Amino acid sequence: MRALAARLAGSPRITVVTGAGVSAASGVPTFRGAGGLWKSHRPEELATPEAFDRDPLLVWEWYAWRRELVAKARPNRAHEVLAAWSRRYPEFRLVTQNVDGLHERAGTQNVTRFHGSLRTLACHRRCAGSSPDGWEHEGPLSELPPRCPHCGGIARPGVVWFGEPIPAEALRAAAQAVNCDVFLTVGTSAVVYPAAGLLLEAAARGAFTVEINPDATPATRGVDLALAGPAEEVLDRVERTLPGE
Ligand code: OAD
Repeated sequence: MRALAARLAGSPRITVVTGAGVSAASGVPTFRGAGGLWKSHRPEELATPEAFDRDPLLVWEWYAWRRELVAKARPNRAHEVLAAWSRRYPEFRLVTQNVDGLHERAGTQNVTRFHGSLRTLACHRRCAGSSPDGWEHEGPLSELPPRCPHCGGIARPGVVWFGEPIPAEALRAAAQAVNCDVFLTVGTSAVVYPAAGLLLEAAARGAFTVEINPDATPATRGVDLALAGPAEEVLDRVERTLPGE
C-alpha cells in the first residue's frame, strides 16, 4: 500500500487498465469466476457477430438486460478514487474494458473505452446515413431489436465482440498510455487480449507495475506489486495513505 502511495506522490505519469472487477461492488456482474456472466451464458452465443446474425433478438435481450442493470448501478469507491486521481494527476490515463460507463459517471477524465459502450447503438449494416461510431441512446429501448433511425435496418450494440477489432482510436490512445511511470491493472482477469498485453508493454518501457485484484491472475507473478483485495477497499486505503490527502 505504502509502496504504491510513495510512487504516486511524485505526480508521475499514471496509467490504469480496468476490468469488470472494478464494477463488482456496484452490483454489475463480472464475466469469469463465481457468479460471472460466462457461467450462465456462452460468449459465442451472445458476444460475437455470428451470434447476432443468427439471433439478433436473443442478443438484444441480453444487452437490454445489462443496459437496465447498469442504469440502476452507481459508481463505487474504486471509481471515485480513480476519478479523483484523474483530476489530480495531469498525466493520468485510464483504459477500461468495461462497457458500463461507471468511470465516466464518476467524473473520470481521460477515459479510453477499449470495448465500446452499452449506451451506444450502431447501424448493423453501417448505412451511409449513420455515423460509424453509432449514437447514444439513454433509457429503455422502445423495441427490440432497436432500429437505425436512418435506414430502418436493425441496430446493434456499440460494443466490441469477440473476433472484432478494437477501435483504432482506442488502440492509439493505449499505445501512448503504456509510456508511463506507474501502471495499474485493476479488477481484470488479464486473459483477454489486446488489453491484457498493455501491462507487458508498460513493463518493457520501465513502468512500475501494480495489480489490484482479490484473486491471482496470469499477471500476478509478473507485476512489481500485487495488492490482493477488492478494488473499492484497496484503492480507498491507497488514497488515504497518500501524503496530504
Ligand atoms: P473478468 O470477469 O474476466 O474478470 C474480473 C476480475 O475481477 C477477476 O479477476 C476477479 O478476480 C476480479 N474481481 C472481482 N471482484 C473484484 C473487486 N471487488 N475488485 C477488484 N477485482 C475484482 O472481467 P474482465 O477482465 O474485465 O469482453 O474481462 C475482460 C473482457 O472479457 C470483458 O471486457 C469482456 C469479457 O468477455 C468482451 O465482451 C469483448
